[in-house]
Amino acid sequence: MTGSGVVVARHKTAMKRMRMSRPTAQALSESVLRKGDTFFDYGCGHGVDVALLRAEGFAATGWDPHFAPAEKKVDADVVNLGFVLNVIERAVERQHALRDAFALARRVLVVAVRVEKNLLAGEDFEDGVLTKHGGFQKFFTQSEFREYVEAILGVKPELAGIGVAYVFKSEEARHAYLSARLLGRRLEFRTELLDLFAKDALAQELLAKCRARARVLRRAEFEGFAALAERFGSEDRVRRLAARLLDPDALAALREERKAALLTYLVTSRLRGLAYPKASMLANDVLADLRTAWGTYERAKAAAEEFMFLVGQSDAVNIACQASAVGKLLPEDLYVHRSAVAQLPALLQVVVEMGRLVVGPQEAEIVKIARDGRSLSFLWYPQFDEVAHPTLDKSLRVHLPRADFQFRDFSASTNPPLLHRKEAFVSEDYAHRGRFLRLTAAEERAGLLGSAPGFQTEWLALLASKELQIAGHTLRRSKGAPSRPHEGSKATIPPKPRSATPTARPSSSS
Ligand SMILES: C[S@@+](CC[C@H](N)C(=O)[O-])C[C@H]1O[C@@H](n2cnc3c(N)ncnc32)[C@H](O)[C@@H]1O
Repeated sequence: MTGSGVVVARHKTAMKRMRMSRPTAQALSESVLRKGDTFFDYGCGHGVDVALLRAEGFAATGWDPHFAPAEKKVDADVVNLGFVLNVIERAVERQHALRDAFALARRVLVVAVRVEKNLLAGEDFEDGVLTKHGGFQKFFTQSEFREYVEAILGVKPELAGIGVAYVFKSEEARHAYLSARLLGRRLEFRTELLDLFAKDALAQELLAKCRARARVLRRAEFEGFAALAERFGSEDRVRRLAARLLDPDALAALREERKAALLTYLVTSRLRGLAYPKASMLANDVLADLRTAWGTYERAKAAAEEFMFLVGQSDAVNIACQASAVGKLLPEDLYVHRSAVAQLPALLQVVVEMGRLVVGPQEAEIVKIARDGRSLSFLWYPQFDEVAHPTLDKSLRVHLPRADFQFRDFSASTNPPLLHRKEAFVSEDYAHRGRFLRLTAAEERAGLLGSAPGFQTEWLALLASKELQIAGHTLRRSKGAPSRPHEGSKATIPPKPRSATPTARPSSSS
Protein backbone atom coordinates (compact mmCIF):
# COMPACT_ATOMS: atom_id res chain seq x y z
CA MET A 1 0.00 0.00 0.00
CA THR A 2 2.02 2.86 -1.23
CA GLY A 3 -0.63 4.56 -3.37
CA SER A 4 -3.66 6.56 -2.41
CA GLY A 5 -5.44 4.09 -0.20
CA VAL A 6 -7.14 2.30 -3.10
CA VAL A 7 -6.88 -1.01 -1.31
CA VAL A 8 -9.12 0.33 1.42
CA ALA A 9 -11.70 1.53 -1.08
CA ARG A 10 -11.64 -1.68 -3.09
CA HIS A 11 -12.29 -3.90 -0.10
CA LYS A 12 -14.68 -1.64 1.68
CA THR A 13 -17.58 -4.04 1.57
CA ALA A 14 -15.53 -6.97 2.91
CA MET A 15 -14.06 -4.99 5.77
CA LYS A 16 -15.01 -5.76 9.35
CA ARG A 17 -13.11 -2.98 11.04
CA MET A 18 -12.95 0.73 10.16
CA ARG A 19 -11.14 1.90 13.25
CA MET A 20 -7.43 1.75 13.99
CA SER A 21 -6.25 -1.68 15.18
CA ARG A 22 -5.66 -1.95 18.92
CA PRO A 23 -1.83 -2.29 18.75
CA THR A 24 -1.40 0.67 16.39
CA ALA A 25 -3.77 2.81 18.45
CA GLN A 26 -1.84 1.90 21.58
CA ALA A 27 1.53 2.66 19.98
CA LEU A 28 0.15 6.06 19.02
CA SER A 29 -1.28 6.79 22.44
CA GLU A 30 2.01 5.82 24.13
CA SER A 31 4.10 7.87 21.69
CA VAL A 32 5.87 4.74 20.51
CA LEU A 33 4.58 5.90 17.12
CA ARG A 34 4.83 9.66 16.94
CA LYS A 35 4.43 12.51 14.49
CA GLY A 36 7.23 12.53 11.93
CA ASP A 37 7.77 8.74 12.11
CA THR A 38 7.51 6.54 9.07
CA PHE A 39 5.23 3.52 9.47
CA PHE A 40 5.15 0.21 7.64
CA ASP A 41 2.34 -2.28 8.14
CA TYR A 42 3.62 -5.83 7.48
CA GLY A 43 0.59 -7.98 6.67
CA CYS A 44 -1.65 -4.94 6.49
CA GLY A 45 -4.84 -6.78 5.46
CA HIS A 46 -7.16 -4.26 3.83
CA GLY A 47 -4.88 -1.43 4.88
CA VAL A 48 -7.13 0.30 7.39
CA ASP A 49 -4.31 1.40 9.71
CA VAL A 50 -2.31 2.71 6.77
CA ALA A 51 -5.26 4.73 5.47
CA LEU A 52 -6.12 6.15 8.88
CA LEU A 53 -2.51 7.07 9.63
CA ARG A 54 -2.14 8.76 6.28
CA ALA A 55 -5.20 10.80 7.04
CA GLU A 56 -3.35 11.90 10.18
CA GLY A 57 -0.35 13.00 8.11
CA PHE A 58 1.93 9.98 8.65
CA ALA A 59 4.11 8.59 5.89
CA ALA A 60 2.52 5.14 6.12
CA THR A 61 2.71 2.18 3.76
CA GLY A 62 1.82 -1.48 3.92
CA TRP A 63 2.20 -4.84 2.26
CA ASP A 64 0.10 -7.97 2.42
CA PRO A 65 0.62 -11.24 0.53
CA HIS A 66 -3.11 -11.50 -0.19
CA PHE A 67 -4.53 -7.99 -0.16
CA ALA A 68 -1.62 -5.84 -1.30
CA PRO A 69 0.97 -8.19 -2.83
CA ALA A 70 2.21 -5.66 -5.37
CA GLU A 71 3.26 -3.17 -2.72
CA LYS A 72 6.88 -2.91 -1.64
CA LYS A 73 8.25 -4.01 1.69
CA VAL A 74 10.13 -0.98 2.98
CA ASP A 75 11.93 -0.10 6.16
CA ALA A 76 10.36 2.39 8.55
CA ASP A 77 10.82 3.87 12.02
CA VAL A 78 7.88 1.83 13.27
CA VAL A 79 6.86 -1.51 11.72
CA ASN A 80 3.61 -3.17 12.69
CA LEU A 81 3.04 -6.94 12.55
CA GLY A 82 -0.54 -7.04 13.75
CA PHE A 83 -2.30 -10.42 14.23
CA VAL A 84 -0.29 -11.89 11.38
CA LEU A 85 1.63 -14.59 13.25
CA ASN A 86 -1.64 -16.27 14.25
CA VAL A 87 -2.72 -16.91 10.69
CA ILE A 88 0.53 -18.38 9.38
CA GLU A 89 0.34 -22.13 9.56
CA ARG A 90 3.94 -23.15 8.82
CA ALA A 91 6.39 -22.48 11.64
CA VAL A 92 9.19 -21.62 9.22
CA GLU A 93 7.05 -19.04 7.46
CA ARG A 94 5.96 -17.58 10.80
CA GLN A 95 9.56 -17.17 11.87
CA HIS A 96 10.44 -15.61 8.55
CA ALA A 97 7.63 -13.04 8.83
CA LEU A 98 8.75 -12.05 12.34
CA ARG A 99 12.42 -11.76 11.38
CA ASP A 100 11.64 -9.95 8.15
CA ALA A 101 9.37 -7.41 9.86
CA PHE A 102 11.96 -6.81 12.59
CA ALA A 103 14.68 -6.29 10.00
CA LEU A 104 12.57 -3.53 8.41
CA ALA A 105 12.04 -1.73 11.72
CA ARG A 106 14.44 1.13 12.32
CA ARG A 107 13.36 1.91 15.89
CA VAL A 108 10.64 -0.49 16.98
CA LEU A 109 8.54 -3.41 15.85
CA VAL A 110 5.01 -3.58 17.23
CA VAL A 111 3.88 -7.23 17.30
CA ALA A 112 0.40 -8.34 18.22
CA VAL A 113 -1.03 -11.82 18.43
CA ARG A 114 -4.30 -13.26 19.56
CA VAL A 115 -3.88 -14.97 22.88
CA GLU A 116 -5.76 -17.93 24.25
CA LYS A 117 -9.44 -17.11 24.50
CA ASN A 118 -10.12 -18.90 27.75
CA LEU A 119 -7.71 -16.58 29.53
CA LEU A 120 -9.34 -13.47 28.24
CA ALA A 121 -13.08 -13.80 28.14
CA GLY A 122 -13.59 -10.06 27.99
CA GLU A 123 -11.10 -9.16 25.27
CA ASP A 124 -12.07 -7.69 21.96
CA PHE A 125 -11.45 -10.55 19.60
CA GLU A 126 -12.71 -8.67 16.58
CA ASP A 127 -9.37 -6.91 16.41
CA GLY A 128 -7.35 -7.97 13.44
CA VAL A 129 -9.88 -10.54 12.29
CA LEU A 130 -9.93 -9.33 8.75
CA THR A 131 -8.89 -12.31 6.78
CA LYS A 132 -11.49 -14.14 4.74
CA HIS A 133 -9.25 -17.19 4.48
CA GLY A 134 -8.57 -17.24 8.18
CA GLY A 135 -9.17 -20.93 8.70
CA PHE A 136 -5.95 -21.39 10.60
CA GLN A 137 -5.44 -19.55 13.87
CA LYS A 138 -2.56 -20.22 16.16
CA PHE A 139 -3.38 -19.00 19.66
CA PHE A 140 -0.49 -18.08 21.91
CA THR A 141 -0.40 -17.83 25.66
CA GLN A 142 1.09 -14.60 26.92
CA SER A 143 4.29 -16.25 28.18
CA GLU A 144 4.63 -18.35 25.03
CA PHE A 145 4.29 -15.16 22.99
CA ARG A 146 7.04 -13.40 24.96
CA GLU A 147 9.36 -16.40 24.81
CA TYR A 148 8.70 -16.91 21.10
CA VAL A 149 9.54 -13.32 20.16
CA GLU A 150 12.68 -13.41 22.27
CA ALA A 151 13.81 -16.78 20.90
CA ILE A 152 13.32 -15.81 17.25
CA LEU A 153 14.66 -12.27 17.42
CA GLY A 154 17.16 -12.62 20.24
CA VAL A 155 15.77 -9.45 21.85
CA LYS A 156 13.62 -9.20 24.96
CA PRO A 157 10.28 -7.66 24.00
CA GLU A 158 8.57 -5.03 26.12
CA LEU A 159 5.05 -6.28 26.78
CA ALA A 160 2.62 -3.48 26.10
CA GLY A 161 -0.54 -5.42 26.91
CA ILE A 162 -2.09 -8.83 26.49
CA GLY A 163 -0.80 -10.14 23.17
CA VAL A 164 0.95 -6.88 22.28
CA ALA A 165 4.69 -6.30 22.44
CA TYR A 166 7.17 -3.64 21.42
CA VAL A 167 10.54 -4.92 20.23
CA PHE A 168 13.01 -2.06 20.26
CA LYS A 169 16.03 -2.06 18.00
CA SER A 170 18.36 -0.56 20.60
CA GLU A 171 18.65 -0.39 24.36
CA GLU A 172 18.58 3.37 23.96
CA ALA A 173 15.17 3.27 22.29
CA ARG A 174 13.86 0.91 24.96
CA HIS A 175 15.16 3.14 27.74
CA ALA A 176 13.55 6.17 26.08
CA TYR A 177 10.20 4.34 26.13
CA LEU A 178 10.60 3.16 29.72
CA SER A 179 11.76 6.47 31.11
CA ALA A 180 8.91 8.25 29.33
CA ARG A 181 6.45 5.79 30.84
CA LEU A 182 7.89 5.61 34.33
CA LEU A 183 9.26 9.11 34.75
CA GLY A 184 7.65 11.27 32.12
CA ARG A 185 4.17 11.74 33.47
CA ARG A 186 5.00 13.74 36.50
CA LEU A 187 6.01 16.93 34.73
CA GLU A 188 5.22 18.92 37.83
CA PHE A 189 8.64 17.85 39.14
CA ARG A 190 10.33 19.96 36.54
CA THR A 191 11.52 23.16 38.05
CA GLU A 192 11.17 25.11 34.82
CA LEU A 193 7.51 24.11 34.68
CA LEU A 194 7.10 25.18 38.27
CA ASP A 195 8.72 28.54 37.45
CA LEU A 196 6.44 28.99 34.46
CA PHE A 197 3.45 28.19 36.62
CA ALA A 198 4.55 30.61 39.35
CA LYS A 199 4.87 33.40 36.78
CA ASP A 200 1.60 32.74 34.97
CA ALA A 201 -0.98 35.45 35.73
CA LEU A 202 -3.91 33.03 35.85
CA ALA A 203 -1.96 30.62 38.04
CA GLN A 204 -1.14 33.49 40.40
CA GLU A 205 -4.83 34.25 40.66
CA LEU A 206 -5.51 30.60 41.49
CA LEU A 207 -2.71 30.54 44.08
CA ALA A 208 -4.08 33.67 45.79
CA LYS A 209 -7.53 32.08 46.03
CA CYS A 210 -6.04 28.83 47.30
CA ARG A 211 -4.11 30.69 50.01
CA ALA A 212 -7.31 32.44 51.07
CA ARG A 213 -9.04 29.05 51.37
CA ALA A 214 -5.96 27.30 52.81
CA ARG A 215 -6.30 24.50 50.29
CA VAL A 216 -6.05 23.74 46.58
CA LEU A 217 -9.32 24.62 44.89
CA ARG A 218 -11.29 22.24 42.70
CA ARG A 219 -12.17 22.83 39.08
CA ALA A 220 -15.68 24.06 39.85
CA GLU A 221 -14.29 26.59 42.31
CA PHE A 222 -12.05 28.46 39.88
CA GLU A 223 -13.14 29.57 36.44
CA GLY A 224 -9.69 29.60 34.91
CA PHE A 225 -9.04 25.93 35.73
CA ALA A 226 -9.77 24.69 32.21
CA ALA A 227 -7.42 27.27 30.66
CA LEU A 228 -4.68 26.34 33.14
CA ALA A 229 -5.20 22.62 32.52
CA GLU A 230 -4.86 23.32 28.80
CA ARG A 231 -1.67 25.29 29.36
CA PHE A 232 -0.01 22.94 31.87
CA GLY A 233 -1.25 19.52 30.85
CA SER A 234 -4.11 18.42 33.06
CA GLU A 235 -6.32 19.41 35.95
CA ASP A 236 -4.45 17.04 38.22
CA ARG A 237 -1.13 18.57 37.29
CA VAL A 238 -2.41 22.10 37.93
CA ARG A 239 -3.48 21.01 41.40
CA ARG A 240 -0.10 19.43 42.07
CA LEU A 241 1.81 22.44 40.83
CA ALA A 242 -0.32 24.66 43.03
CA ALA A 243 0.15 22.34 46.02
CA ARG A 244 3.88 22.39 45.56
CA LEU A 245 4.01 26.19 45.47
CA LEU A 246 1.70 26.55 48.43
CA ASP A 247 3.19 24.12 50.88
CA PRO A 248 6.87 23.33 51.58
CA ASP A 249 5.92 19.96 53.06
CA ALA A 250 4.27 19.06 49.80
CA LEU A 251 7.57 19.83 48.12
CA ALA A 252 9.43 17.40 50.40
CA ALA A 253 6.78 14.75 49.76
CA LEU A 254 7.08 15.27 46.02
CA ARG A 255 10.87 14.88 46.24
CA GLU A 256 10.39 11.54 47.98
CA GLU A 257 7.92 10.55 45.30
CA ARG A 258 10.39 11.43 42.60
CA LYS A 259 13.13 9.45 44.32
CA ALA A 260 10.88 6.38 44.45
CA ALA A 261 10.03 6.80 40.75
CA LEU A 262 13.71 7.03 39.80
CA LEU A 263 14.59 3.98 41.90
CA THR A 264 11.71 2.05 40.34
CA TYR A 265 12.92 2.96 36.88
CA LEU A 266 16.53 1.95 37.56
CA VAL A 267 15.63 -1.27 39.36
CA THR A 268 13.05 -2.41 36.82
CA SER A 269 15.47 -1.66 33.99
CA ARG A 270 17.84 -4.16 35.59
CA LEU A 271 15.01 -6.66 36.12
CA ARG A 272 14.36 -6.40 32.38
CA GLY A 273 17.96 -7.42 31.78
CA LEU A 274 18.90 -3.95 30.55
CA ALA A 275 22.12 -2.22 31.52
CA TYR A 276 21.62 1.07 33.38
CA PRO A 277 21.10 3.84 30.84
CA LYS A 278 24.20 5.87 30.06
CA ALA A 279 23.99 9.36 31.49
CA SER A 280 23.89 10.70 27.93
CA MET A 281 20.68 8.74 27.29
CA LEU A 282 18.85 10.44 30.13
CA ALA A 283 16.90 13.65 29.81
CA ASN A 284 18.57 16.59 31.55
CA ASP A 285 15.85 16.96 34.15
CA VAL A 286 15.99 13.23 34.99
CA LEU A 287 19.74 13.44 35.47
CA ALA A 288 19.33 16.55 37.62
CA ASP A 289 16.71 14.76 39.74
CA LEU A 290 19.01 11.74 40.18
CA ARG A 291 21.78 14.04 41.38
CA THR A 292 19.44 15.90 43.73
CA ALA A 293 18.33 12.62 45.27
CA TRP A 294 21.67 10.78 45.53
CA GLY A 295 24.44 13.31 44.86
CA THR A 296 25.78 11.53 41.78
CA TYR A 297 24.39 9.16 39.17
CA GLU A 298 26.97 6.55 40.26
CA ARG A 299 25.55 6.64 43.79
CA ALA A 300 22.02 6.35 42.43
CA LYS A 301 23.03 3.16 40.59
CA ALA A 302 24.68 1.79 43.73
CA ALA A 303 21.46 2.48 45.66
CA ALA A 304 19.50 0.62 42.97
CA GLU A 305 21.88 -2.37 43.19
CA GLU A 306 21.38 -2.54 46.94
CA PHE A 307 17.63 -2.19 46.53
CA MET A 308 17.54 -5.17 44.13
CA PHE A 309 18.09 -7.52 47.08
CA LEU A 310 14.73 -6.55 48.55
CA VAL A 311 12.78 -7.39 45.40
CA GLY A 312 10.80 -10.60 45.80
CA GLN A 313 11.31 -10.77 49.57
CA SER A 314 7.91 -11.33 51.18
CA ASP A 315 8.83 -9.73 54.50
CA ALA A 316 10.13 -6.60 52.85
CA VAL A 317 6.97 -6.27 50.73
CA ASN A 318 4.78 -6.75 53.78
CA ILE A 319 6.69 -4.07 55.70
CA ALA A 320 6.40 -1.71 52.74
CA CYS A 321 2.63 -2.35 52.60
CA GLN A 322 2.33 -1.50 56.27
CA ALA A 323 4.49 1.60 55.88
CA SER A 324 2.66 2.90 52.82
CA ALA A 325 1.15 6.33 53.31
CA VAL A 326 -1.44 5.58 50.65
CA GLY A 327 -3.85 2.76 49.97
CA LYS A 328 -6.11 0.60 52.03
CA LEU A 329 -4.43 -2.14 54.02
CA LEU A 330 -6.35 -5.37 54.54
CA PRO A 331 -5.01 -8.58 56.12
CA GLU A 332 -3.84 -10.09 52.82
CA ASP A 333 -3.47 -7.16 50.47
CA LEU A 334 -2.93 -3.46 49.99
CA TYR A 335 -5.47 -1.78 47.66
CA VAL A 336 -4.54 1.43 45.96
CA HIS A 337 -6.21 3.65 43.38
CA ARG A 338 -4.15 4.40 40.27
CA SER A 339 -3.89 8.05 41.34
CA ALA A 340 -1.80 6.98 44.32
CA VAL A 341 0.50 4.36 42.77
CA ALA A 342 3.22 7.00 42.34
CA GLN A 343 3.10 7.63 46.08
CA LEU A 344 3.67 4.00 47.06
CA PRO A 345 7.02 3.05 48.59
CA ALA A 346 9.52 2.26 45.82
CA LEU A 347 9.48 -1.48 46.57
CA LEU A 348 5.73 -1.64 45.94
CA GLN A 349 6.08 0.36 42.74
CA VAL A 350 8.63 -2.23 41.65
CA VAL A 351 6.08 -4.99 42.42
CA VAL A 352 3.51 -3.19 40.25
CA GLU A 353 6.06 -2.79 37.50
CA MET A 354 6.90 -6.51 37.70
CA GLY A 355 3.22 -7.20 37.09
CA ARG A 356 3.41 -4.95 34.05
CA LEU A 357 6.34 -6.98 32.79
CA VAL A 358 3.91 -9.88 32.47
CA VAL A 359 0.75 -8.18 31.20
CA GLY A 360 1.88 -4.74 30.09
CA PRO A 361 0.60 -1.46 31.52
CA GLN A 362 -3.07 -1.70 32.50
CA GLU A 363 -5.33 1.27 33.10
CA ALA A 364 -7.32 -0.34 35.91
CA GLU A 365 -8.76 1.88 38.63
CA ILE A 366 -7.40 -0.20 41.52
CA VAL A 367 -4.20 -2.15 41.99
CA LYS A 368 -4.20 -4.83 44.67
CA ILE A 369 -0.79 -5.87 45.95
CA ALA A 370 -0.52 -9.13 47.91
CA ARG A 371 1.37 -8.48 51.12
CA ASP A 372 3.52 -11.55 50.53
CA GLY A 373 4.72 -9.94 47.30
CA ARG A 374 3.81 -12.96 45.20
CA SER A 375 0.94 -11.54 43.21
CA LEU A 376 -0.90 -8.42 42.27
CA SER A 377 -4.22 -7.72 40.60
CA PHE A 378 -5.48 -5.00 38.35
CA LEU A 379 -9.12 -4.36 39.22
CA TRP A 380 -11.47 -2.42 36.99
CA TYR A 381 -14.18 -0.41 38.71
CA PRO A 382 -15.71 1.69 35.92
CA GLN A 383 -17.27 4.95 37.12
CA PHE A 384 -15.07 4.92 40.20
CA ASP A 385 -15.55 8.69 40.53
CA GLU A 386 -19.20 8.91 39.64
CA VAL A 387 -20.70 5.99 41.55
CA ALA A 388 -20.72 6.04 45.36
CA HIS A 389 -19.96 2.32 45.67
CA PRO A 390 -18.47 1.16 42.38
CA THR A 391 -18.73 -2.53 41.51
CA LEU A 392 -15.99 -4.78 40.17
CA ASP A 393 -16.18 -5.23 36.40
CA LYS A 394 -13.08 -7.34 35.64
CA SER A 395 -9.85 -8.38 37.24
CA LEU A 396 -6.44 -9.43 36.02
CA ARG A 397 -4.43 -11.30 38.64
CA VAL A 398 -0.74 -11.66 37.94
CA HIS A 399 1.15 -14.41 39.69
CA LEU A 400 4.71 -13.10 39.82
CA PRO A 401 6.80 -16.25 40.46
CA ARG A 402 5.14 -18.06 37.54
CA ALA A 403 4.90 -14.88 35.43
CA ASP A 404 1.35 -15.79 34.40
CA PHE A 405 -2.06 -14.28 34.89
CA GLN A 406 -5.74 -15.00 35.28
CA PHE A 407 -8.48 -12.86 33.87
CA ARG A 408 -11.97 -12.75 35.41
CA ASP A 409 -15.01 -11.01 34.03
CA PHE A 410 -17.60 -9.88 36.55
CA SER A 411 -19.61 -7.74 34.17
CA ALA A 412 -22.50 -10.22 34.06
CA SER A 413 -22.56 -10.80 37.81
CA THR A 414 -25.82 -9.99 39.63
CA ASN A 415 -23.93 -9.65 42.89
CA PRO A 416 -20.51 -8.14 42.22
CA PRO A 417 -18.07 -7.03 44.93
CA LEU A 418 -18.21 -3.33 45.63
CA LEU A 419 -16.10 -0.67 47.29
CA HIS A 420 -16.75 1.40 50.40
CA ARG A 421 -14.64 4.22 51.82
CA LYS A 422 -13.25 5.28 48.45
CA GLU A 423 -11.14 8.02 50.01
CA ALA A 424 -8.90 5.29 51.48
CA PHE A 425 -7.73 4.22 48.02
CA VAL A 426 -6.90 7.55 46.41
CA SER A 427 -4.09 10.07 46.80
CA GLU A 428 -4.42 12.92 49.31
CA ASP A 429 -4.83 15.50 46.56
CA TYR A 430 -7.30 13.46 44.50
CA ALA A 431 -9.92 15.80 43.06
CA HIS A 432 -12.98 13.98 44.46
CA ARG A 433 -11.55 12.93 47.81
CA GLY A 434 -13.61 15.44 49.80
CA ARG A 435 -16.84 14.09 48.34
CA PHE A 436 -15.82 10.51 49.18
CA LEU A 437 -14.92 11.49 52.74
CA ARG A 438 -18.26 13.21 53.33
CA LEU A 439 -20.20 10.16 52.18
CA THR A 440 -18.15 7.86 54.41
CA ALA A 441 -18.79 10.12 57.40
CA ALA A 442 -22.53 10.06 56.71
CA GLU A 443 -22.48 6.26 56.31
CA GLU A 444 -20.60 5.91 59.57
CA ARG A 445 -23.13 8.09 61.38
CA ALA A 446 -25.89 5.91 59.98
CA GLY A 447 -24.14 2.78 61.31
CA LEU A 448 -23.59 1.26 57.87
CA LEU A 449 -19.87 0.64 57.94
CA GLY A 450 -19.34 -1.42 61.10
CA SER A 451 -19.18 -4.61 59.06
CA ALA A 452 -20.36 -3.37 55.69
CA PRO A 453 -21.15 -6.17 53.22
CA GLY A 454 -18.59 -6.45 50.44
CA PHE A 455 -21.16 -7.50 47.83
CA GLN A 456 -23.83 -5.44 46.17
CA THR A 457 -26.96 -7.45 47.05
CA GLU A 458 -26.18 -7.56 50.78
CA TRP A 459 -25.15 -3.91 50.78
CA LEU A 460 -28.40 -2.82 49.14
CA ALA A 461 -30.33 -5.02 51.57
CA LEU A 462 -28.58 -3.32 54.49
CA LEU A 463 -29.45 0.12 53.11
CA ALA A 464 -33.07 -0.96 52.58
CA SER A 465 -33.29 -2.40 56.11
CA LYS A 466 -32.32 1.02 57.44
CA GLU A 467 -34.68 2.76 54.99
CA LEU A 468 -31.76 4.54 53.34
CA GLN A 469 -30.75 5.27 49.75
CA ILE A 470 -27.74 6.85 48.08
CA ALA A 471 -27.97 9.45 45.32
CA GLY A 472 -24.72 10.52 43.76
CA HIS A 473 -22.61 10.72 46.90
CA THR A 474 -25.44 11.68 49.23
CA LEU A 475 -27.07 9.38 51.75
CA ARG A 476 -30.76 9.99 52.27
CA ARG A 477 -33.89 8.43 53.69
CA SER A 478 -35.83 6.21 51.28
CA LYS A 479 -38.99 7.66 49.81
CA GLY A 480 -41.89 7.05 52.10
CA ALA A 481 -39.70 6.40 55.15
CA PRO A 482 -40.25 8.69 58.13
CA SER A 483 -37.52 11.37 58.09
CA ARG A 484 -34.85 11.56 60.76
CA PRO A 485 -33.08 14.74 61.65
CA HIS A 486 -29.48 14.05 60.56
CA GLU A 487 -29.90 12.78 56.99
CA GLY A 488 -30.16 14.64 53.68
CA SER A 489 -32.54 14.09 50.74
CA LYS A 490 -31.91 13.11 47.12
CA ALA A 491 -32.85 10.41 44.62
CA THR A 492 -31.69 6.78 44.56
CA ILE A 493 -29.17 4.82 42.44
CA PRO A 494 -30.71 1.77 40.79
CA PRO A 495 -28.39 -1.27 41.01
CA LYS A 496 -26.82 -2.46 37.74
CA PRO A 497 -28.19 -5.84 36.56
CA ARG A 498 -25.48 -8.48 37.08
CA SER A 499 -25.07 -12.30 37.58
CA ALA A 500 -22.59 -14.93 39.03
CA THR A 501 -20.72 -14.91 42.28
CA PRO A 502 -17.24 -13.47 42.34
CA THR A 503 -14.50 -14.35 44.77
CA ALA A 504 -12.41 -11.18 44.73
CA ARG A 505 -13.47 -9.15 47.70
CA PRO A 506 -12.03 -5.71 48.15
CA SER A 507 -14.22 -5.40 51.22
CA SER A 508 -13.70 -2.08 52.76
CA SER A 509 -15.42 -1.88 56.06
CA SER A 510 -12.20 -2.71 57.87
C1 LIG B 1 -5.81 -11.15 10.85
S1 LIG B 1 -5.17 -10.29 9.49
C2 LIG B 1 -4.52 -8.83 10.21
C3 LIG B 1 -4.46 -7.68 9.28
C4 LIG B 1 -3.95 -6.37 9.87
N1 LIG B 1 -2.57 -6.45 10.27
C5 LIG B 1 -4.80 -5.93 11.06
O1 LIG B 1 -4.32 -5.91 12.17
O2 LIG B 1 -5.95 -5.61 10.85
C6 LIG B 1 -3.79 -11.25 9.07
C7 LIG B 1 -3.11 -10.83 7.79
O3 LIG B 1 -1.87 -11.51 7.67
C8 LIG B 1 -1.65 -11.71 6.30
N2 LIG B 1 -0.63 -12.76 6.11
C9 LIG B 1 -0.79 -14.08 5.96
N3 LIG B 1 0.41 -14.67 5.82
C10 LIG B 1 1.34 -13.70 5.87
C11 LIG B 1 2.76 -13.66 5.77
N4 LIG B 1 3.47 -14.77 5.59
N5 LIG B 1 3.37 -12.47 5.87
C12 LIG B 1 2.67 -11.34 6.05
N6 LIG B 1 1.33 -11.32 6.16
C13 LIG B 1 0.68 -12.47 6.05
C14 LIG B 1 -3.01 -12.07 5.77
O4 LIG B 1 -3.11 -11.86 4.38
C15 LIG B 1 -3.91 -11.14 6.54
O5 LIG B 1 -4.17 -9.96 5.84
